[in-house]
Amino acid sequence: MPRRRRNDPAQYDDLADQWWPTHGRFAALHWLAEARARLIPAPPRTGAPLLDLACGGGLLARVLTGKLAGWRHIGVDLSSLALRQASDHGVEAVQADVTRLPFPDGKFSCVVAGEMFEHIEDLDAACTAIGRVLAPGGTLVIDTLADTLFCRIGLVRLAERLPGGPPPRIHDPRLLVSPDRLGAALDRYGIEMTVVGGLRPSLPDYVRWLVRQADSVRMVPTDSTAGVYQAVGTRRELR
Ligand SMILES: C[S@@+](CC[C@H](N)C(=O)[O-])C[C@H]1O[C@@H](n2cnc3c(N)ncnc32)[C@H](O)[C@@H]1O
Repeated sequence: MPRRRRNDPAQYDDLADQWWPTHGRFAALHWLAEARARLIPAPPRTGAPLLDLACGGGLLARVLTGKLAGWRHIGVDLSSLALRQASDHGVEAVQADVTRLPFPDGKFSCVVAGEMFEHIEDLDAACTAIGRVLAPGGTLVIDTLADTLFCRIGLVRLAERLPGGPPPRIHDPRLLVSPDRLGAALDRYGIEMTVVGGLRPSLPDYVRWLVRQADSVRMVPTDSTAGVYQAVGTRRELR
């Protein structure tokens, strides 16, 4: 595996075979996708398009079931190899940068940004693009890593050495974004953000997953937003 700079998008091509195995390098993204689904509203009508920003291998597809089954799942990402996997799992895959979305204004009543903001160099450009494609009254679902010492050292540098932790060098601590900064950036582009709370893995589940007695680990709510936090945004109605 070539040694790459932190947050180099080419890493996702290097790790393309790791998206779907439950004990692969992206295992924790499966756990987070389940937690993310809890915040996604039911589609307003069958076939309504949901935009999955930086969708990677399309892991959200597995949890768009039950009352979430009617969404038309459209994913954008930079990595063509990740998009191929997303497409194999039923996602309409579009290769694009999240700061330059190739969709008409107000197309989506739901936009999902799972583990994305901590990878984006130009936060304002991403928020502008989201504010443009999200329909008035529409919902933005977010989970990301907070800009705290706990994340910079614990979740980025130390967790990279743990099973289930992020792949080495996938995060750049420079890009972590606090709820306040993210809320202010989204507000500039017409989206009111509310923090839902933090998430942490269930310890008993993690142990069972480690010894291969379980395929997944529940992410349980926590009051602390010093690590991974969830938030929802609502696009203001146009006057
Ligand atoms: C941590 S993964 C998250 C994948 C997916 N959202 C999930 O939770 O399973 C981050 C993804 O962001 C993508 N990415 C990074 N910068 C991007 C950009 N500017 N535009 C589109 N995708 C980007 C990467 O290729 C990668 O697939």
